[in-house]
Amino acid sequence: MPSSTSASPPTTAQAPQAGTLTLENVIYEKKGGIAYVTLNRPKVLNALNTPTWKDLRTAFEDARDDAAIRGVILTGAGDKAFIAGADISELAQVSAVEAEESSRLGQGVLELVENLGKPVIAAVNGYALGGGCETAMACTIRIAADTARFGQPEVKLGLLPGGGGTQRLPRLVGKGRALQLILSGGMISAQEAYRIGLVNEVVAASDLIARAEAILGEISANAPISVRLSLEAVNKGMDAGEGAGFALEASYFGICAATEDKAEGTSAFLQKRQPQFKGR
Ligand code: CAA
Repeated sequence: MPSSTSASPPTTAQAPQAGTLTLENVIYEKKGGIAYVTLNRPKVLNALNTPTWKDLRTAFEDARDDAAIRGVILTGAGDKAFIAGADISELAQVSAVEAEESSRLGQGVLELVENLGKPVIAAVNGYALGGGCETAMACTIRIAADTARFGQPEVKLGLLPGGGGTQRLPRLVGKGRALQLILSGGMISAQEAYRIGLVNEVVAASDLIARAEAILGEISANAPISVRLSLEAVNKGMDAGEGAGFALEASYFGICAATEDKAEGTSAFLQKRQPQFKGR
Protein backbone atom coordinates (compact mmCIF):
# COMPACT_ATOMS: atom_id res chain seq x y z
CA MET A 1 0.00 0.00 0.00
CA PRO A 2 2.77 2.51 -0.80
CA SER A 3 1.88 6.18 -0.37
CA SER A 4 -1.78 5.42 0.07
CA THR A 5 -3.91 8.34 1.14
CA SER A 6 -6.25 6.29 3.30
CA ALA A 7 -5.95 3.79 6.10
CA SER A 8 -8.03 1.20 4.25
CA PRO A 9 -6.46 -2.19 3.44
CA PRO A 10 -4.04 -2.50 0.53
CA THR A 11 -5.63 -2.60 -2.86
CA THR A 12 -4.62 -5.14 -5.45
CA ALA A 13 -4.00 -2.45 -8.07
CA GLN A 14 -0.26 -3.08 -7.91
CA ALA A 15 1.08 -6.61 -8.17
CA PRO A 16 2.39 -7.77 -4.79
CA GLN A 17 6.02 -8.82 -4.45
CA ALA A 18 6.79 -12.50 -5.09
CA GLY A 19 6.29 -14.72 -2.07
CA THR A 20 3.35 -12.74 -0.66
CA LEU A 21 1.26 -15.02 1.53
CA THR A 22 -2.48 -15.55 1.38
CA LEU A 23 -3.95 -15.64 4.89
CA GLU A 24 -7.53 -15.88 6.18
CA ASN A 25 -7.78 -12.87 8.50
CA VAL A 26 -4.73 -10.82 7.60
CA ILE A 27 -3.83 -9.12 4.33
CA TYR A 28 -0.11 -9.46 3.78
CA GLU A 29 1.65 -7.61 0.99
CA LYS A 30 5.26 -6.73 0.29
CA LYS A 31 6.20 -3.73 -1.80
CA GLY A 32 9.34 -1.63 -2.03
CA GLY A 33 11.05 -3.28 0.93
CA ILE A 34 8.02 -2.81 3.22
CA ALA A 35 5.69 -5.57 4.45
CA TYR A 36 2.10 -4.33 4.92
CA VAL A 37 0.21 -6.35 7.52
CA THR A 38 -3.49 -5.45 7.70
CA LEU A 39 -5.87 -7.04 10.21
CA ASN A 40 -8.88 -7.90 8.10
CA ARG A 41 -11.99 -8.64 10.19
CA PRO A 42 -13.70 -5.26 9.88
CA LYS A 43 -17.17 -6.66 10.77
CA VAL A 44 -15.90 -7.31 14.32
CA LEU A 45 -13.59 -4.28 14.34
CA ASN A 46 -10.58 -6.51 13.59
CA ALA A 47 -10.93 -8.43 16.87
CA LEU A 48 -8.20 -10.99 17.48
CA ASN A 49 -9.32 -14.62 17.59
CA THR A 50 -6.94 -17.59 17.63
CA PRO A 51 -6.69 -18.01 13.82
CA THR A 52 -5.95 -14.27 13.51
CA TRP A 53 -3.10 -14.46 16.04
CA LYS A 54 -1.71 -17.39 14.02
CA ASP A 55 -2.03 -15.44 10.75
CA LEU A 56 -0.17 -12.56 12.36
CA ARG A 57 2.60 -14.91 13.46
CA THR A 58 2.93 -16.32 9.93
CA ALA A 59 3.06 -12.81 8.42
CA PHE A 60 5.65 -11.50 10.88
CA GLU A 61 7.82 -14.62 10.56
CA ASP A 62 7.87 -14.06 6.80
CA ALA A 63 8.75 -10.38 7.23
CA ARG A 64 11.54 -11.31 9.66
CA ASP A 65 13.02 -13.96 7.35
CA ASP A 66 12.80 -12.00 4.08
CA ALA A 67 16.07 -10.09 3.71
CA ALA A 68 14.46 -7.72 1.19
CA ILE A 69 12.02 -6.46 3.85
CA ARG A 70 13.40 -3.49 5.82
CA GLY A 71 10.32 -2.73 7.91
CA VAL A 72 6.66 -3.47 8.54
CA ILE A 73 3.52 -1.34 8.67
CA LEU A 74 0.71 -2.85 10.76
CA THR A 75 -2.80 -1.45 10.43
CA GLY A 76 -6.48 -2.43 10.50
CA ALA A 77 -8.96 -2.80 7.64
CA GLY A 78 -11.75 -0.23 7.44
CA ASP A 79 -11.80 3.25 8.89
CA LYS A 80 -13.16 2.45 12.35
CA ALA A 81 -10.72 0.17 14.12
CA PHE A 82 -7.07 -0.76 14.32
CA ILE A 83 -7.96 -3.71 16.60
CA ALA A 84 -10.84 -3.67 19.12
CA GLY A 85 -9.10 -6.29 21.27
CA ALA A 86 -9.37 -10.01 21.70
CA ASP A 87 -12.48 -11.58 20.18
CA ILE A 88 -15.01 -11.45 23.03
CA SER A 89 -17.22 -14.18 21.55
CA GLU A 90 -14.21 -16.52 21.72
CA LEU A 91 -13.25 -15.29 25.21
CA ALA A 92 -16.81 -15.93 26.44
CA GLN A 93 -16.34 -19.67 25.80
CA VAL A 94 -12.80 -20.33 27.04
CA SER A 95 -11.82 -22.32 30.11
CA ALA A 96 -9.07 -21.09 32.45
CA VAL A 97 -6.51 -23.35 30.77
CA GLU A 98 -7.53 -22.17 27.29
CA ALA A 99 -7.42 -18.53 28.42
CA GLU A 100 -3.86 -18.99 29.67
CA GLU A 101 -2.91 -20.67 26.37
CA SER A 102 -4.53 -17.82 24.45
CA SER A 103 -2.63 -15.24 26.52
CA ARG A 104 0.65 -17.07 25.87
CA LEU A 105 -0.10 -17.30 22.14
CA GLY A 106 -0.73 -13.54 21.95
CA GLN A 107 2.28 -12.73 24.12
CA GLY A 108 4.48 -14.92 21.89
CA VAL A 109 3.31 -13.22 18.70
CA LEU A 110 3.86 -9.78 20.25
CA GLU A 111 7.35 -10.76 21.40
CA LEU A 112 8.05 -11.69 17.77
CA VAL A 113 6.78 -8.26 16.69
CA GLU A 114 8.81 -6.43 19.33
CA ASN A 115 12.02 -8.31 18.58
CA LEU A 116 11.69 -8.63 14.81
CA GLY A 117 15.09 -7.04 14.18
CA LYS A 118 13.38 -4.57 11.84
CA PRO A 119 11.19 -1.58 12.68
CA VAL A 120 7.45 -2.22 12.89
CA ILE A 121 5.21 0.85 12.67
CA ALA A 122 1.72 0.60 14.12
CA ALA A 123 -0.48 2.80 11.93
CA VAL A 124 -3.37 3.10 14.39
CA ASN A 125 -6.37 3.98 12.26
CA GLY A 126 -9.15 3.74 14.87
CA TYR A 127 -9.96 1.83 18.07
CA ALA A 128 -6.91 0.23 19.69
CA LEU A 129 -8.46 -1.47 22.70
CA GLY A 130 -7.34 -4.34 24.92
CA GLY A 131 -5.25 -6.68 22.77
CA GLY A 132 -5.29 -3.94 20.10
CA CYS A 133 -3.58 -1.42 22.36
CA GLU A 134 -1.23 -4.21 23.46
CA THR A 135 -0.41 -5.04 19.82
CA ALA A 136 0.35 -1.39 19.09
CA MET A 137 2.61 -1.24 22.17
CA ALA A 138 4.69 -4.18 20.92
CA CYS A 139 5.47 -2.23 17.74
CA THR A 140 8.63 -0.15 17.46
CA ILE A 141 6.81 3.13 16.76
CA ARG A 142 3.12 4.10 17.00
CA ILE A 143 1.55 6.66 14.64
CA ALA A 144 -2.09 7.44 15.38
CA ALA A 145 -4.81 8.88 13.19
CA ASP A 146 -6.43 11.83 14.95
CA THR A 147 -9.59 9.70 15.19
CA ALA A 148 -7.89 6.81 17.05
CA ARG A 149 -8.93 5.80 20.58
CA PHE A 150 -6.89 3.78 23.06
CA GLY A 151 -7.72 1.80 26.17
CA GLN A 152 -7.36 -1.39 28.20
CA PRO A 153 -11.04 -2.21 28.95
CA GLU A 154 -10.44 -5.81 30.13
CA VAL A 155 -11.51 -5.08 33.72
CA LYS A 156 -14.96 -4.23 32.36
CA LEU A 157 -15.17 -7.85 31.13
CA GLY A 158 -13.95 -9.44 34.36
CA LEU A 159 -10.50 -9.95 32.85
CA LEU A 160 -7.18 -8.14 32.84
CA PRO A 161 -4.80 -7.27 30.00
CA GLY A 162 -3.49 -10.61 28.75
CA GLY A 163 -1.34 -9.54 25.81
CA GLY A 164 1.50 -7.90 27.71
CA GLY A 165 -0.40 -4.73 28.67
CA THR A 166 0.42 -4.86 32.37
CA GLN A 167 4.12 -4.89 31.45
CA ARG A 168 4.46 -2.70 28.33
CA LEU A 169 2.04 0.09 29.30
CA PRO A 170 3.87 1.13 32.51
CA ARG A 171 7.19 1.00 30.65
CA LEU A 172 5.81 3.37 28.00
CA VAL A 173 3.74 5.85 30.01
CA GLY A 174 4.82 5.32 33.65
CA LYS A 175 3.21 3.28 36.42
CA GLY A 176 0.61 5.82 37.58
CA ARG A 177 -0.84 6.54 34.15
CA ALA A 178 -0.74 2.85 33.22
CA LEU A 179 -2.62 1.86 36.35
CA GLN A 180 -5.22 4.56 35.78
CA LEU A 181 -5.89 3.23 32.27
CA ILE A 182 -5.84 -0.43 33.28
CA LEU A 183 -7.94 -0.06 36.44
CA SER A 184 -10.53 2.34 35.00
CA GLY A 185 -10.85 0.52 31.68
CA GLY A 186 -11.51 3.96 30.18
CA MET A 187 -10.67 5.18 26.69
CA ILE A 188 -8.40 8.07 25.72
CA SER A 189 -8.13 10.09 22.52
CA ALA A 190 -5.17 10.04 20.14
CA GLN A 191 -4.15 13.48 21.42
CA GLU A 192 -4.16 12.27 25.04
CA ALA A 193 -2.23 9.14 23.99
CA TYR A 194 0.37 11.45 22.43
CA ARG A 195 0.50 13.65 25.54
CA ILE A 196 1.30 10.69 27.81
CA GLY A 197 3.81 9.12 25.42
CA LEU A 198 1.72 6.17 24.29
CA VAL A 199 2.03 7.22 20.64
CA ASN A 200 4.90 8.92 18.83
CA GLU A 201 2.82 11.11 16.52
CA VAL A 202 -0.77 12.00 15.66
CA VAL A 203 -1.59 12.72 12.01
CA ALA A 204 -4.70 13.18 9.88
CA ALA A 205 -6.22 9.77 9.08
CA SER A 206 -5.61 10.41 5.36
CA ASP A 207 -1.85 10.83 6.00
CA LEU A 208 -1.38 7.81 8.24
CA ILE A 209 0.17 5.27 5.85
CA ALA A 210 2.24 7.85 3.97
CA ARG A 211 3.71 9.05 7.29
CA ALA A 212 4.50 5.47 8.36
CA GLU A 213 6.19 4.91 5.00
CA ALA A 214 8.22 8.10 5.40
CA ILE A 215 9.45 7.01 8.85
CA LEU A 216 10.45 3.60 7.50
CA GLY A 217 12.18 5.29 4.56
CA GLU A 218 14.28 7.37 6.94
CA ILE A 219 15.25 4.30 9.01
CA SER A 220 15.94 2.15 5.93
CA ALA A 221 18.56 4.63 4.71
CA ASN A 222 20.71 3.65 7.72
CA ALA A 223 23.01 0.68 8.22
CA PRO A 224 20.80 -2.42 8.70
CA ILE A 225 23.00 -4.10 11.31
CA SER A 226 23.15 -0.86 13.33
CA VAL A 227 19.35 -0.64 13.21
CA ARG A 228 18.90 -4.27 14.27
CA LEU A 229 21.41 -4.13 17.12
CA SER A 230 20.07 -0.75 18.35
CA LEU A 231 16.60 -2.29 18.61
CA GLU A 232 18.02 -5.33 20.39
CA ALA A 233 20.09 -3.22 22.82
CA VAL A 234 17.07 -1.13 23.81
CA ASN A 235 14.71 -4.10 24.14
CA LYS A 236 17.12 -6.41 25.99
CA GLY A 237 18.59 -3.57 28.04
CA MET A 238 15.17 -2.50 29.34
CA ASP A 239 14.55 -6.03 30.59
CA ALA A 240 18.05 -6.65 31.92
CA GLY A 241 18.55 -3.41 33.86
CA GLU A 242 20.99 -0.57 33.30
CA GLY A 243 24.26 -2.36 34.25
CA ALA A 244 23.74 -5.31 31.92
CA GLY A 245 22.31 -2.91 29.32
CA PHE A 246 25.50 -0.81 29.26
CA ALA A 247 27.62 -3.97 28.84
CA LEU A 248 25.38 -5.13 25.97
CA GLU A 249 25.58 -1.71 24.32
CA ALA A 250 29.40 -1.70 24.46
CA SER A 251 29.53 -5.19 22.99
CA TYR A 252 27.12 -4.30 20.13
CA PHE A 253 29.11 -1.10 19.53
CA GLY A 254 32.14 -3.39 19.03
CA ILE A 255 30.22 -5.67 16.65
CA CYS A 256 29.11 -2.67 14.55
CA ALA A 257 32.69 -1.42 14.41
CA ALA A 258 33.69 -4.68 12.68
CA THR A 259 31.13 -4.30 9.85
CA GLU A 260 31.78 -3.22 6.26
CA ASP A 261 28.97 -0.71 6.76
CA LYS A 262 30.89 1.04 9.54
CA ALA A 263 33.89 1.41 7.21
CA GLU A 264 31.54 2.73 4.51
CA GLY A 265 29.59 5.04 6.84
CA THR A 266 32.65 6.69 8.37
CA SER A 267 34.46 6.97 4.97
CA ALA A 268 31.38 8.46 3.33
CA PHE A 269 31.14 11.08 6.08
CA LEU A 270 34.81 12.03 5.70
CA GLN A 271 34.55 12.09 1.89
CA LYS A 272 31.35 14.22 2.12
CA ARG A 273 29.18 11.73 0.17
CA GLN A 274 26.13 9.56 0.87
CA PRO A 275 26.97 6.07 2.23
CA GLN A 276 26.02 2.92 0.34
CA PHE A 277 25.15 0.39 3.05
CA LYS A 278 25.08 -3.34 2.31
CA GLY A 279 24.01 -4.86 5.63
CA ARG A 280 27.43 -6.46 6.10
N1 CAA B 1 -14.70 -8.95 20.02
C1 CAA B 1 -15.71 -9.41 19.27
N2 CAA B 1 -16.57 -8.61 18.59
C2 CAA B 1 -16.36 -7.30 18.69
C3 CAA B 1 -15.33 -6.74 19.45
C4 CAA B 1 -14.47 -7.64 20.15
N3 CAA B 1 -13.42 -7.21 20.88
N4 CAA B 1 -15.40 -5.40 19.37
C5 CAA B 1 -16.44 -5.12 18.56
N5 CAA B 1 -17.03 -6.25 18.13
C6 CAA B 1 -18.18 -6.39 17.24
C7 CAA B 1 -19.48 -6.00 17.92
O1 CAA B 1 -19.99 -7.06 18.69
C8 CAA B 1 -20.32 -5.64 16.74
O2 CAA B 1 -20.80 -6.82 16.15
P1 CAA B 1 -22.33 -6.88 15.59
O3 CAA B 1 -22.35 -5.88 14.45
O4 CAA B 1 -22.48 -8.29 15.14
O5 CAA B 1 -23.22 -6.47 16.72
C9 CAA B 1 -19.34 -5.03 15.77
O6 CAA B 1 -18.04 -5.48 16.17
C10 CAA B 1 -19.32 -3.51 15.81
O7 CAA B 1 -19.11 -3.11 17.14
P2 CAA B 1 -20.14 -2.13 17.94
O8 CAA B 1 -21.49 -2.23 17.38
O9 CAA B 1 -19.96 -2.40 19.40
O10 CAA B 1 -19.50 -0.72 17.53
P3 CAA B 1 -19.60 0.63 18.38
O11 CAA B 1 -19.11 1.70 17.47
O12 CAA B 1 -20.92 0.80 19.01
O13 CAA B 1 -18.52 0.43 19.58
C11 CAA B 1 -16.42 -0.23 20.54
C12 CAA B 1 -17.15 0.29 19.28
C13 CAA B 1 -16.43 0.84 21.63
C14 CAA B 1 -14.98 -0.53 20.13
C15 CAA B 1 -17.13 -1.51 21.06
O14 CAA B 1 -17.29 -2.40 19.98
C16 CAA B 1 -16.38 -2.22 22.14
O15 CAA B 1 -16.39 -1.80 23.28
N6 CAA B 1 -15.70 -3.37 21.79
C17 CAA B 1 -15.04 -4.20 22.76
C18 CAA B 1 -13.71 -3.62 23.18
C19 CAA B 1 -13.06 -4.48 24.25
O16 CAA B 1 -13.61 -4.68 25.33
N7 CAA B 1 -11.84 -4.99 23.96
C20 CAA B 1 -11.09 -5.79 24.90
C21 CAA B 1 -11.29 -7.25 24.63
S1 CAA B 1 -10.51 -8.28 25.85
C22 CAA B 1 -8.87 -8.33 25.42
O17 CAA B 1 -8.44 -7.68 24.50
C23 CAA B 1 -8.02 -9.26 26.25
C24 CAA B 1 -6.55 -9.11 25.99
O18 CAA B 1 -5.87 -8.40 26.71
C25 CAA B 1 -5.86 -9.85 24.93
